[in-house]
Amino acid sequence: MTSTLPENAPVPAGSRATILDITGVNAGYGRIQVLHAVSLSVRAGEIVSLLGPNGAGKTTTLLACSGMVKVSAGDIRLADETLLKHSPHVIARKRLAHIPEDRSLFPSLTVDDHLRLSAKPGGLDVLELFPELKKRHNKRAGVLSGGEQQMLALGRALVANPRVLLVDEMSMGLAPVIVERLFAALRDIAVSKGLAVLMVEQHIHLALKYAQRGYVLSGGRIRTQGTAAELVERWSEIESSYLGR
Ligand SMILES: Nc1ncnc2c1ncn2[C@@H]1O[C@H](COP(=O)(O)OP(=O)(O)OP(=O)(O)O)[C@@H](O)[C@H]1O
Ligand SMILES: [Mg+2]
Repeated sequence: MTSTLPENAPVPAGSRATILDITGVNAGYGRIQVLHAVSLSVRAGEIVSLLGPNGAGKTTTLLACSGMVKVSAGDIRLADETLLKHSPHVIARKRLAHIPEDRSLFPSLTVDDHLRLSAKPGGLDVLELFPELKKRHNKRAGVLSGGEQQMLALGRALVANPRVLLVDEMSMGLAPVIVERLFAALRDIAVSKGLAVLMVEQHIHLALKYAQRGYVLSGGRIRTQGTAAELVERWSEIESSYLGR
């Protein structure tokens, strides 16, 4: 698929409702508190980047949203409903999809198997979206290239018709040209389907090229936020103030 929209394309009017709303969240592992009063939001049709150094708490933030890390204060809401009292399984059924850093594919299952197991009414026709996957539809995930595997991980999420998509380090181990292809596809889908995307990304340049807004997390606290253009403009100050570079 070729991208039909420019990067940072404005979100169409009328679809700007906040879908994912994180307010004042403390969370962590056992007695170790990792997140401190984290607040961030993502609107329908918007890609938001969560940026920050190693160990900042980016993955923990995504895990808190999908119910895999205990939240001890604050709230996480999908549309108008709190997610806090629900198990990861129930949260997924509420159409919050999470692509973890390791992609969590089943090496011995085929592309078709993965898509069939996750398909929900209203989900995208992923094989039409990604002709590369269509060509490999009967291959096992374990024999796919890294780019094809990430495409399958993205496809498996999209076939479930999510309202919110959390993506952890999509670019990990991939050539920049493939990452751009995936980000461009994601951007088109976010705008056309009103999908709210929260993505964690080490590749700052690419993250801010495709996101509308971003938040900088360090030491488990949101240090600053802004539009992608504002963050690009301020990046050297942000690096020296918050990222210790
Ligand atoms: N299962 C766990 N048990 C205890 N502490 C953990 C666990 N997972 C992560 N941590 C700690 O929580 C903090 C935040 O980790 P997290 O994985 O959220 O960071 P991150 O921003 O995603 O970093 P990276 O860029 O390296 O992926 C780190 O200090 C990490 O050591
Ligand atoms: Mg991480």
